Amino acid sequence: MKATAKAHTNIALIKYWGKRDQALFLPMNSSLSLTLDAFYTTTTVAFKSDIKEDVFMLDGHRANEAASLKVSLFLDKIRGLGDIDTKAVVTSINHVPYAAGFASSASGYAALAAAGVKALALPLDRASLSILARQGSGSASRSVYGGFVKWNKGQLADGTDSYAEQLLKEEEWQVSVLSVHVTSEEKKISSRDGMAITVATSPFYDGWLSTVAEDLTMAEEAIHDRNFTQLGQVSESNALKMHATMLGARPPVCYWNPTTMAVMMRVKELRQEGYEAYYTVDAGPNVKVLCLPGDEALIQARLMEIPTVEKVIPCHPGPGITYIT
Ligand code: PMV
Repeated sequence: MKATAKAHTNIALIKYWGKRDQALFLPMNSSLSLTLDAFYTTTTVAFKSDIKEDVFMLDGHRANEAASLKVSLFLDKIRGLGDIDTKAVVTSINHVPYAAGFASSASGYAALAAAGVKALALPLDRASLSILARQGSGSASRSVYGGFVKWNKGQLADGTDSYAEQLLKEEEWQVSVLSVHVTSEEKKISSRDGMAITVATSPFYDGWLSTVAEDLTMAEEAIHDRNFTQLGQVSESNALKMHATMLGARPPVCYWNPTTMAVMMRVKELRQEGYEAYYTVDAGPNVKVLCLPGDEALIQARLMEIPTVEKVIPCHPGPGITYIT
């Protein structure tokens, strides 16, 4: 009745932006990501017959009511699969900068799903685990796997065909992702709200949807051929299209701050100097810079020269879910 699992966060190179079903976390478009070694969540789930309500401990403290409720609702899904109603103590340690465009929810829900399922000894394969994790946070569906991962949006109304698959294992292609920390402030608009406003009001949303399939094909081809330039170009372009789509929403959704732009400009300068570097930005102001491992130290130093950059953390392809106990 007790298990511990570890899951790493991922950075989307072709983004998921917009839901077709809010309750089941079904996406409008497929997406593609790289699981990162540097950021992860370790979660223990212990089902206990002697407690009357779920307890969620996050980083050594009792989590606030909103976070506890979300975890409890997610545990209900696991309890449903196991046909039990026993409450649980969930203990999570997050090695992810919270709510600033680093998808802590991705590693968080992937680890919670894995630990909960193992604690009940449920016979779920990886695809089913991905489906379960998806219902905590869409991006969590991809953190079930290591390396390069694609989340197929699926067609069915019940979401049983909307899960991730691994394209390339973490050891099969060494690339670097510099995680550029520009602020530790919490983001103001959640990805959930940002997506909903964009889908409902942005005149550019149809344009976004109409080009994702082509971007995915380009990215998959680049990964297959280990073509770094092609992967970098399509990733950067896809991120910019996602943010352009949000800027067209009413009210507009903008996750950038001046340092976000400064980092983007610096990456462009580095490219003009002949370095292979490309940026991507999620639903927050921080930037991830893709580069070749041999250029990592130099590019890290050049990004650190920007006075308002707080830190730059080098990341590499990381593993999928692992079980500690
Ligand atoms: O599933 P969420 O709530 O973490 O939303 C993810 C949204 C983006 O990070 C912007 C894109 C993505 O595919 O991860």
